[in-house]
Amino acid sequence: MSDPRKLFIKTYGCQMNVYDSERMAEVLGASGYVTTDRAEDADMILLNTCHIREKAAEKVYSELGRFKPLKAANPDLKIGVAGCVAQAEGEEIMRRQPLVDLVVGPQTYHRLPAMEQTLRDGGRAVDTDFPDEDKFDHLPKGRPRAKRGPTAFLTVQEGCDKFCSFCVVPYTRGAEVSRPVARLMAEAQDLVDRGVREITLLGQNVNAYHGAGAGGEWSLARLIEALAGIDGLERIRFTTSHPNDMREDLIAAFAEQPKLMPYLHLPVQSGSDRILKRMNRKHTAESYIDIIDRLRAARPDLLLSGDFIVGFPGESEADFEDTLALVRRVGYGQAYSFKYSARPGTPAAERKDMVPEDAAADRLARLQALLSDQQRAAQDAMVGRTVSVLFEKPGRLPGQMVGKSDYLHAVHVTDARATPGMIARVRITASAPNSLAGELA
Ligand code: SAH
Ligand code: SF4
Ligand code: F3S
Repeated sequence: MSDPRKLFIKTYGCQMNVYDSERMAEVLGASGYVTTDRAEDADMILLNTCHIREKAAEKVYSELGRFKPLKAANPDLKIGVAGCVAQAEGEEIMRRQPLVDLVVGPQTYHRLPAMEQTLRDGGRAVDTDFPDEDKFDHLPKGRPRAKRGPTAFLTVQEGCDKFCSFCVVPYTRGAEVSRPVARLMAEAQDLVDRGVREITLLGQNVNAYHGAGAGGEWSLARLIEALAGIDGLERIRFTTSHPNDMREDLIAAFAEQPKLMPYLHLPVQSGSDRILKRMNRKHTAESYIDIIDRLRAARPDLLLSGDFIVGFPGESEADFEDTLALVRRVGYGQAYSFKYSARPGTPAAERKDMVPEDAAADRLARLQALLSDQQRAAQDAMVGRTVSVLFEKPGRLPGQMVGKSDYLHAVHVTDARATPGMIARVRITASAPNSLAGELA
């Protein structure tokens, strides 16, 4: 028998892409591919791409250019582009980069085996449909039974109907769809059977989840409650949420559900109501703060994370100061902030009142300084406390294990008793720039 063909996948963008890359590897696994982490060894290279900002999309083309020598050395090598750039640009990718044999959008990768056959027959394949069938129904049943690491992603909801004026996601991922409860319960049970102890539920708008379950549509809170009943599943997280879908039952879950971890990523984008309106966010700074207050009433130690955009068209210095004020008011333990990037096809890209580049860069630097102070303070405040840590893998130093605290801080412990998959109480002894150190309590 000949060696199995080798597949190299490189993943960009959000966690949803990480999940999708695993699924693509499984689909192609059924066609005889095994994954490799060396592009030079591959028979097929797939880039699973992100279109959210200009830089993310441009990276894809520079990466593709680097595969030229590989293709020259191995004319049978197939190169594919998957994900959100594939969805947004389709065939255009092949015009810009003739090395590309395959373009597959985020909703059609269950059709990869047929596309792969087309490539082997000497053709090229492009599929960026939003098909009627659900790709999840057409993925190989019963994933490989191999054991896996202690943490996993599980996509429960996909797509977005919010149409924030700056964002490509509603166009690249399509309309909001929730997967049925029974499917998710089965997938979660399978993950737990294979060693997973923490599941992060994924969706572009995960808290808008409204999947079909017993007796009708279930909310995310109800799904979490059911998942919490799975023996051996110790930790549940979810991301990413929109403030307007932060329902009362979900807020209450932070108080009532011990398996739901005290960490929430709740992007606000701006602290200025004028800008929020132009962004079509449909919430105000005050309504966001009100949600945070209610969340903290339910779970006082909740660690908050957020996303921010500076330099949105028309943003004045006063608008930006409103963002700084909101950040000071909320206090973030973690945050991501970006300079606005005009994306083709989005309403905001039509605006003429662009913020000059140097002003946007200056605002980003000021915001990031404030956010990183807050992040550092939240982390330093852990020193002396005892937290629960799920160990994931060996650290860089001999005998060291690294894991995540309930608050998602990376924690290093040097102790032979710590093993991957173990959850232990750890007393935090020191705080470094991006991690904590501690000892088993
Ligand atoms: N669904 C998530 C966000 C997905 S995109 C949500 O609604 O929160 C992740 C982050 O990228 C966004 O929260 C936003 O801060 C940033 N982003 C999206 N489009 C952008 C653009 N055009 N320019 C700069 N940042 C952008
Ligand atoms: Fe994009 Fe807004 Fe949807 Fe988030 S809620 S994915 S920012 S359109
Ligand atoms: Fe990027 Fe698509 Fe995720 S644009 S952020 S990979 S949904």
